[in-house]
Amino acid sequence: MIKIVEVGPRDGLQNENATIPTETKIAFVDALSESGVSEIEVSAFVSPNMVPQLKDAATVFQNIRRKKGVVYSALVPNEKGMENSVAAGVDKISVFTAASETFNMKNINATVADSLRRFKPVLKQAKTLRMPVRGYISTAFWCAFEGKIAPATVVELAKQMIEMGIDELSISDTIGKATPDEVGSLMDAILPCVPVERLAVHFHDTYGRGIANVLKSVSYGIQVVDASVGGLGGCPFAPGATGNVATEAVVKALTGAGEEVTVNIEKLIHAYGIIASYLPTKQHRRPAPDSLACATCPF
Ligand code: HMG
Ligand code: MG
Repeated sequence: MIKIVEVGPRDGLQNENATIPTETKIAFVDALSESGVSEIEVSAFVSPNMVPQLKDAATVFQNIRRKKGVVYSALVPNEKGMENSVAAGVDKISVFTAASETFNMKNINATVADSLRRFKPVLKQAKTLRMPVRGYISTAFWCAFEGKIAPATVVELAKQMIEMGIDELSISDTIGKATPDEVGSLMDAILPCVPVERLAVHFHDTYGRGIANVLKSVSYGIQVVDASVGGLGGCPFAPGATGNVATEAVVKALTGAGEEVTVNIEKLIHAYGIIASYLPTKQHRRPAPDSLACATCPF
């Protein structure tokens, strides 16, 4: 069975300038909880100066209706974020770094080596609390500033992150430029070093190759796929990065390929309807493929 990690409330919203009321975010997460996704990345405990849209992370967490069996996670960049996420009752944290030094500096104001040092006290606390930890490796294929990233760089970083005690690595195509062949090359390089059960994939869809990249990853045995309903998303610190691969498209493609996925598309689309009217960009206002099937939302 393929596990879907819905990142819409975090990756989907972090790039949006529109004011989205906190209660709408809560309703969005609650609707996603009913859709059958395994995990929801609810928000990020990062600097509100860097990502103002997610400054209400604690309030969102404290007010969502938690569904049994769903994991509610959040991004945590440092000890302060860890402290706030624990106080808010997060189930699982995600630390994040990148294979590109330039992107990492712009995103979290740290070199790659410094970011790993920052993780250490966070991981220590997570271990004490028996909290699972995901680690993102951004720019795993391409970087908007440094161009093509060599698979060997990603593998070296992945090995260090696993050795530090990170449970799951999400291999991320931040600017959505990877091709299925590049995905295959990275899988060939990383799988001899990192067990497949410890890997997830995170594709943005800038060039429309997100689905092909998901299917390629799954053909290598990857069982955890990140996606964002309606294709919301993007990173404010990666110029040109567009939305994540759309959850409903991933579910359809995986089901069509004979994989077992326990996500209900109508419920996903209902969740998208809750948030869609707050997203003014054309890209986000496009109706999701099955939107007409949803009787209870206007999109
Ligand atoms: P910094 O400026 O080096 O940090 O930023 P600092 O420790 O010097 O603190 C500066 C100020 O931020 C201080 O406030 C701190 O208190 C505050 P001031 O004294 O100036 O008023 N601060 C915090 N406030 C709340 N929560 C915190 C926190 N930490 C410091 N946790 C830092 C370093 C990492 C904090 C900053 O660069 C940051 O928050 N970056 C986050 C950027 C981000 O969220 N990017 C998007 C997510 S990553 C992504 O999208 C990629 C992904 O989707 C995968 C992919 O697609 O590739 C995951
Ligand atoms: Mg992302």
